[in-house]
Amino acid sequence: MSNVIEMHHPLIKHKITMLRDETTGTNEFRKLVEEIAMLMGYEALADLKTKNIAIKTPIEATVQPILDGRKPAVLPILRAGLGMLGGMLALLPNAKVGHIGMSRDERTHQPKTYYCKLPPYIEDRLIIVVDPMLATGGSLIDAVSEIKARGGKTIKCMCIIAAPEGVEAFTKAHPDVLLYVGAIDRCLNADAYICPGLGDAGDRIFGTPERDLI
Ligand code: PRP
Ligand code: URA
Repeated sequence: MSNVIEMHHPLIKHKITMLRDETTGTNEFRKLVEEIAMLMGYEALADLKTKNIAIKTPIEATVQPILDGRKPAVLPILRAGLGMLGGMLALLPNAKVGHIGMSRDERTHQPKTYYCKLPPYIEDRLIIVVDPMLATGGSLIDAVSEIKARGGKTIKCMCIIAAPEGVEAFTKAHPDVLLYVGAIDRCLNADAYICPGLGDAGDRIFGTPERDLI
């Protein structure tokens, strides 16, 4: 699948393993999600356009590259995508931020869009959609369709863990969108959770599991 880029960097792999571990608590989990987002973002942004400008160093005049074009837009899918936002803003401190609220029905696993607010001039920006989990693919497919319907043209997506089922569905629905994934896992279970996965990303980031021990 030519529009899917899986990460193989050992630092990313190591941090994803820590993330999966059920003994990793909320504080550590949040930090890891942010760090992984930054490492993945570094890869995903490798083709950012630059232009040359004239500057003076303390030694001499020189012509050097800076980023070109409108500021990119980072779009976290609520809730869990918010965990990746800090890592992306560490790379792109001037990026615009939009929000897309998606929730997955626990029984049917169908996504529902409940919020969408995008930065202006979205058609001229590189858009990076972030969500740690790609399970059936429904949420990301609908989020990207919504962004396209609102004028978004140049779109990349970043997911930390993906199921093969979701990757296939997404690439069929949006073959023009590059998808960066930290790991492609074995399969989905009957509840459409990724195996081995990491459980519910939103609950682990925000500390909202149904049965909390503390
Ligand atoms: C999770 C995750 C994705 C979605 C993936 O969100 O963050 O958005 O599920 O599943 P899919 O590929 O089958 O659509 P969830 O709906 O649990 O919402 P939350 O982030 O608010 O917990
Ligand atoms: N959403 C999650 O947070 N985890 C999964 O495994 C599937 C969907």
